[in-house]
Amino acid sequence: ATAEQGTNLLGSETAAQSDPAQTITILYGSQTGNGRGVASELAAKAQAQGYAVNLASMGDYKVRQLKQETILLAVVSTHGEGEAPDDAIELHKFLASKRAPKLENLNYSVLALGDSSYEFFCQTGKDFDDRLSALGAKPLQTLVECDVDYESAVELWQESVLEAVKPLIETSGASVVSLSGSGIPGAAASEFTKQKPYTAELLVSQKLTGRESDRDVRHVEIDLGESGLSYQAGDALGVWFTNTETLVEELLTKLSLDGDEAVTVGKDTLSLKQALIEKKELTQLYPGLVKDWAALSGNAELLSISDDKALTRQFVLNHQLADLVTNYSAEVTSTQLLAMLRPITPRLYSIASSQSEVESEVHLTVALVEDEREGGARFGGASQFLSQAQEGAEVKVYVEPNKHFRLPENPETAVIMVGPGTGIAPFRAFMQERAAQGIEGNSWLIFGNPHFEQDFLYQTEWQQYLKDGSLSRIDLAFSRDQAHKIYVQHRIAEQGEELWKWLESGAHFYICGDAERMAKDVHQALLDIAVKFGGKTEEEAEAYFEQLRSDKRYQKDVY
Ligand code: 2AM
Repeated sequence: ATAEQGTNLLGSETAAQSDPAQTITILYGSQTGNGRGVASELAAKAQAQGYAVNLASMGDYKVRQLKQETILLAVVSTHGEGEAPDDAIELHKFLASKRAPKLENLNYSVLALGDSSYEFFCQTGKDFDDRLSALGAKPLQTLVECDVDYESAVELWQESVLEAVKPLIETSGASVVSLSGSGIPGAAASEFTKQKPYTAELLVSQKLTGRESDRDVRHVEIDLGESGLSYQAGDALGVWFTNTETLVEELLTKLSLDGDEAVTVGKDTLSLKQALIEKKELTQLYPGLVKDWAALSGNAELLSISDDKALTRQFVLNHQLADLVTNYSAEVTSTQLLAMLRPITPRLYSIASSQSEVESEVHLTVALVEDEREGGARFGGASQFLSQAQEGAEVKVYVEPNKHFRLPENPETAVIMVGPGTGIAPFRAFMQERAAQGIEGNSWLIFGNPHFEQDFLYQTEWQQYLKDGSLSRIDLAFSRDQAHKIYVQHRIAEQGEELWKWLESGAHFYICGDAERMAKDVHQALLDIAVKFGGKTEEEAEAYFEQLRSDKRYQKDVY
């Protein structure tokens, strides 16, 4: 039986019990849930067409099953500098290793999800495609690479790949499993999802940072009401937002466009102004838009930026559409503009509460993204929306589970939590959960931010946890309270001996926050500790944390 491979979509026994040679195996490797969404959708479509399907996370898939598969459809995303998502790491490595078997009986197709603002666009998907092909598997179609606005490409792939599967299943004589019902998973239909979010009520948006802080960080409370939405400590909340009227008015004026003009977006007819407020991504640039704008404006500087990948990458991180419009004038019609812009997408926030404590509420820790410009600041779309929202405002949300960021199964197991800045959020959830379970001690929080006076997020709560014994220790790195910078990794290094003891006694280690620099620097500090206090070589230290990671004792929620 292949039941151990993963979830059977319908909860029926049919697919799980069927012969792997007659089953479509759909695997996903997904950090933020997009890949999982695409794969589940494909599974539902395949089941609706009568195929037996085995749907699983790559992380739950037993690699020794590979040899028996005949049809494998893989959906995998890429992160940061071409990295595989956590649940894909093992399979990714396995396929590249000498242990990987010949896969001549396998037919496969890979759908790669990525973000073209990054240099190593869709790298993990490319790797999977290359390796499967090198092992002798036959592609059902060429690799499909999807950018951030992946919906239509995904739909095409789902349809064409199921077409391509048809003759194979027939010629291999597989029995077509007939399913009761429509083939759409019943449980999922009533759930709130990215595409069908729940309209929640905002209860509180309160500034956590002091008046003199350089940062505006908010504590946000949202009421999930009667939605029945549930989450676990470690999960994220997807938040839909709208663009501000101020920003849209500015764009319309600068582009000499009429906001009242009726336009069509998808199936909706609405005013241009409303379309820009509700439907389009205005605060996150992407390379394609820079290219289009460069062509429209004919501006030499922008053209040379858009011709250079690295420059474009920097540019999109530090600019918005409004900067393009302001600095590189171009004539554009409403139709052209709408065609160039991507659909607005929700943002994911690590949840800062536990339902054991807050029941039908969900709390977030939101940093207002703000970039100074000559003519006034530019803001991040969702963070500005949440920061400005009044009590009682409607917020469309859904829960995005993150099973790679979980408290230990045994509640008594020690936890070390490193969360500078808004990286503190999931650890507030962890502590609420542990306190609710009555767990005392064995918990260590390492937090950092610019100034003690201004930026000690949730200070009184940590003090309370220390006092009542739920939190064993806290180490703080206030980077700008002295002439030289002190960061969380410096505290980790200072406490190396103690930290090594905790790890050796079985503690789980968590990092949340900045992926670019912080998480890497913390990792290096850990390696140094293993060398210094564990007597390991650099290589052994790497292997030690690799083992910890694969034992789910070293978990990251970084962005
Ligand atoms: P800084 O802004 O004073 O340099 C949360 O943003 C905290 O993380 C801030 O105190 C910030 O310090 C700090 N920080 C910046 N870069 C970091 C890094 N590479 N490693 C750890 N912390 C860092």
